[in-house]
Amino acid sequence: MVAEKSREFAERFVAEDEPITAARARAHEVGATPIGPGGGAALRMLATAVGARTAVEVGTGCGVSGIWLMRGMQPDGVLTSIDVEPEHQRLAKKAYAEAGIESNRVRLITGRALDVLPRLSDAAYDLVLCDADKHEYPEYLPEAVRMLRPGGVLAFDNALWHDRVADPSARDPDTVAVRETNRAVLENPDLVPALLTCGDGLLVAIKRR
Ligand SMILES: C[S@@+](CC[C@H](N)C(=O)[O-])C[C@H]1O[C@@H](n2cnc3c(N)ncnc32)[C@H](O)[C@@H]1O
Repeated sequence: MVAEKSREFAERFVAEDEPITAARARAHEVGATPIGPGGGAALRMLATAVGARTAVEVGTGCGVSGIWLMRGMQPDGVLTSIDVEPEHQRLAKKAYAEAGIESNRVRLITGRALDVLPRLSDAAYDLVLCDADKHEYPEYLPEAVRMLRPGGVLAFDNALWHDRVADPSARDPDTVAVRETNRAVLENPDLVPALLTCGDGLLVAIKRR
């Protein structure tokens, strides 16, 4: 088992620069809890590994995960990012600009995830990150698998949900939804999964070719 000190060391191993720390601070102010630094670094690495040109993010927040993703994507890669809160997306735009990301690399869609996702194309995306309403995670999963191209990367943040997923006595709706999603990913024969313990847990999977 990894002790707390080593977990903290690993979480900070890839350091965040000023544009990300500023976006992170604004995200905490408005209650759009961002992915941790370890999860962000993992997303950047995975986006690089698959040479991502197209990615979808469910839950823009204030731009922390978007910056990590776009820094791993191809220089001409485009991130489609969905959020129901225009104010969060306004702050995300500010964060992308501060990070030097050209505005034509981001397509922000304001709306509810379950209204927007069905409009996105089949097998068209190299990476899909889900990080919006935990209660809706089970419904994001089939949409994400549909949208991914074979060999693409699926990611769900908060897969350990504040240590509650591993606690069988925790039965609140968000915990149950995250637990159910983890199991569905694990049991999907089209996916090759791994549960990374960075931050609040990042469930990742590759869609089989
Ligand atoms: C945890 S934050 C996202 C953090 C972001 N991925 C990051 O790491 O910087 C969740 C975001 O999802 C948005 N959200 C919540 N429910 C949603 C829904 N049903 N559809 C779309 N966005 C939603 C919230 O407004 C919030 O900005």
